[in-house]
Amino acid sequence: MKRIGILTSGGDAPGMNAAIRAVTRKAIYNGMEVYGINYGFAGLVAGDVRRLEIADVGDTIQRGGTFLYSARYPEFATEEGQLKGIEQLNKFGIEGLVVIGGDGSYHGALALTRHGYPAVGIPGTIDNDIPNTDFTIGFDTATNTVLDSLDRIRDTATSHVRTFIIEVMGRDAGDLALWTGVAGGADEIIIPEHDFDMKNVAKRIQDGRDRGKKHCLIVLAEGVMGGSEFAEQLKEYGDFHTRVSILGHVARGGSPSVRDRVLASKFGGYAVELLQESKGGLCVGMVDNKLVAADIVDILENGKHHPDLTLYDLNHELSF
Ligand code: F6P
Repeated sequence: MKRIGILTSGGDAPGMNAAIRAVTRKAIYNGMEVYGINYGFAGLVAGDVRRLEIADVGDTIQRGGTFLYSARYPEFATEEGQLKGIEQLNKFGIEGLVVIGGDGSYHGALALTRHGYPAVGIPGTIDNDIPNTDFTIGFDTATNTVLDSLDRIRDTATSHVRTFIIEVMGRDAGDLALWTGVAGGADEIIIPEHDFDMKNVAKRIQDGRDRGKKHCLIVLAEGVMGGSEFAEQLKEYGDFHTRVSILGHVARGGSPSVRDRVLASKFGGYAVELLQESKGGLCVGMVDNKLVAADIVDILENGKHHPDLTLYDLNHELSF
């Protein structure tokens, strides 16, 4: 394969630029040409394509977001959209495509695979909800960003003896809430992958108060319910001087951490190696600190991401 393309799609994640840089530099180093596609699959269908040279990815490794821009583009789920995309790839002579993104982006790569076009997926999302990898690009940075906010909120919670419900992103996955909750010493972590009983939550808050505890932090994954709804339900069991803080998109921004930059560089380099060998229909990942590649059809049809629920149990024992 001599000419490859690259795009980022879905929600941006810190470290995506580092992955684009790695793909571009590794490919050029090995005698290939690289074409960047702006705005994900939407840009692909529109033919928004440009050649990337070594200098185009300079000064990008430390930047959050994606300099190729991103978009959510449900139209790529249609046969018509997919064929238009492949037509553009053929027009530019692009023989293989690297797709960086989350679940929706992987489905785009899967569609290309089903049409016989070689695509390789790189997991990039703050949600950490992709099968075949322990960590996705952006998750580490997002956890650190959320943690910084939790530490700040703890200051004000203590000062006013308040209970804070901090709603964090993650779509249907609880990883972001789980990891930041443990790291931030949260009193409760509420995630979609584990049941909770509001009465018990209220009891634990009250027990803490009775022991003289000043602050109470509840980290709530958005996939369970909104922060305000949670506060309403909690109110039925007592008045805990509750405030709601929705961190939202703040978790998506910022300069990527060391771990995300290194992970992105490894994934990018590996994706190029696979395409060099004309291997497509794959998604890369890091399992037990080893780079792996798996069949994207199999991963999307049968794979499931599982959060580390031992963290949940541990937190229950540490924060009472
Ligand atoms: O998938 C990343 C993510 O940030 C989710 O955590 C969140 O639910 C969603 O994207 C928000 O999407 P948008 O930026 O399109 O509102």
